Amino acid sequence: MINTLIIYSHPSKKSYTFQVLEQLTQILNNQNFKVEVSDLYAMNFLSDMTEQEYEREGFANIQLPIPKDVIEEHKKIGEADCIIFLYPVWWSDCPAKLKGWFDRVFSVGYAYGQRPELPKMKTVKCGAVICTAGHPNNFLKEIGIEQSMQNIMLDDRLGKRFENKDMLILGGTLDIENVRQTHIKQIERLVNKINQYFADA
Ligand SMILES: Cc1cc2nc3c(=O)[nH]c(=O)nc-3n(C[C@H](O)[C@H](O)[C@H](O)COP(=O)(O)O)c2cc1C
Repeated sequence: MINTLIIYSHPSKKSYTFQVLEQLTQILNNQNFKVEVSDLYAMNFLSDMTEQEYEREGFANIQLPIPKDVIEEHKKIGEADCIIFLYPVWWSDCPAKLKGWFDRVFSVGYAYGQRPELPKMKTVKCGAVICTAGHPNNFLKEIGIEQSMQNIMLDDRLGKRFENKDMLILGGTLDIENVRQTHIKQIERLVNKINQYFADA
């Protein structure tokens, strides 16, 4: 079984992104994957840093405590072979809720600036980013946003913390009926690719 954690960030079950979550979960469940979802809005995940958290982070003051909800996320990461981030593109980035997850969960000493006395994040075998976008992919490419989203998500946020990294931008959602079937095929192809990482191991 491939333990898979989906970090999902969308406020509404009426959304297309929620439909993608359902399709993705179904595709994964039909294969060799065991799925857990961190539904950030449903969990009411706190995306703002507290003053104390900032003081731990900004001054690398590792004596200060790590909040319980962040430790919970660290545990889920510890158990995951694969982490998939799923969200809608808002202003050329992820929703603030998910940005806050990175701010808080990728804490100093854990995700970077490691110290021998502190538990550090393991290298996760596979990290995938799936985002839905109103603009079609060719437009996002033309204006350089596809590249910039890939740089930020894959090169910076996932960084060296993941061994294999992929990003799937499901664009053109303003004309959803025109792209739905293509999106499903793209998701299936991505899941097959992820499966391959584990088959090759
Ligand atoms: C606040 C907000 C900002 C958005 N910014 C962008 C954007 O920068 N680029 C883009 O392609 N689509 C943008 N969209 C469109 C969403 O990506 C689109 O609604 C989403 O892919 C699919 O919708 P749903 O899951 O919310 O139903 C934005 C939508 C909202 C609500």
